[in-house]
Amino acid sequence: MAHHESLIAALPKTELHIHIEGSLEPEMMFDLAGRNGVKLPYASVEETGAAYQFSNLQDFLDLYYQGMSALMTEQDYFDLTYAYLKHCADDNVRHTEIFFDPQGHVSRGVDFKTVFDGVSRGLEAGFDEFGISHEIIMCFLRHLDEDDAERMLDLALNYRDRIVGVGLDSSELGHPPSKFKNVFRRARDAGFKLVAHAGEEGPPEYVWEAIDVLGVDRIDHGNRALEDKELVRRLARDKMPLTVCPLSNQRLCVVPDLKKHPIQRMLDAGLVATLNSDDPAYFGGYMNDNFNALDQALSLGRDEIVGLARNGFVAAFCDEDRKSDLLRDFDRAVATL
Ligand code: HPA
Ligand code: ZN
Repeated sequence: MAHHESLIAALPKTELHIHIEGSLEPEMMFDLAGRNGVKLPYASVEETGAAYQFSNLQDFLDLYYQGMSALMTEQDYFDLTYAYLKHCADDNVRHTEIFFDPQGHVSRGVDFKTVFDGVSRGLEAGFDEFGISHEIIMCFLRHLDEDDAERMLDLALNYRDRIVGVGLDSSELGHPPSKFKNVFRRARDAGFKLVAHAGEEGPPEYVWEAIDVLGVDRIDHGNRALEDKELVRRLARDKMPLTVCPLSNQRLCVVPDLKKHPIQRMLDAGLVATLNSDDPAYFGGYMNDNFNALDQALSLGRDEIVGLARNGFVAAFCDEDRKSDLLRDFDRAVATL
């Protein structure tokens, strides 16, 4: 069947939902663990393949936190981030907004500054070498309490000019957005953009809370919003972007099969859906892989693929000058394809 591999490869893209720690490939995980004397629960790179079979979000998170324990030095964070930017360059990603999880590092004795400086230098190298622009979003781990998130926000305030926003990730069920109402209010008052994972495993009510209680600017995932017609109308009316992650949804059993992925229903309902990789080293693919997998499962139309890619630029948090440059380049590129 004819799909759109060459169109997808040639389209300029953004990525708006990528946990930088989730781009840690097994090879690098082993290298870093060796260099830092960290013990991994796998005998070899090959063994990770068998271990990376998940039935739900928590199965994955257990290995994700385990994997990130190999990261210790500023150089490690640089290497991690720079390797991800190379994938962006290969996939014609022109702008990326990365999440990082400081609590996953600070709790192991790695300083916030070590993490931040390494990631930041990796991103700057990606801009210098490939012209890929970036923003940085700090996520709070929602299985921890709000006081812990407040302490992370205090640290982030020292980097206010380099961190565009704050987000909410980790174990969704049992940890509704409203648990973080105060810290999100303080982040908004400090000028941060706000995002939250909601409706990945959690019910539509969590998406409502992300919008009405936290006041988010984008919803990460949002799949389960489709169960609530009133919520879908609200998301469409507000042009609330959703950062959808097809291979993640497949690997975490959020959808039974990519052929049942709701992207078509999202677009038909007028939602501003974008495509993203989430944790590419764990879920089997970077940006083009996500577009291609969805296209192959659903036989998307050319206009749908172009529209999904364009939504990423529309939904980005970069400043208006950068956004209009990116959108102009995107529209010019589409005209030649
Ligand atoms: N959901 C929640 N937390 C996460 C994810 C995700 O998909 N990836 C990394 N942390
Ligand atoms: Zn995510």
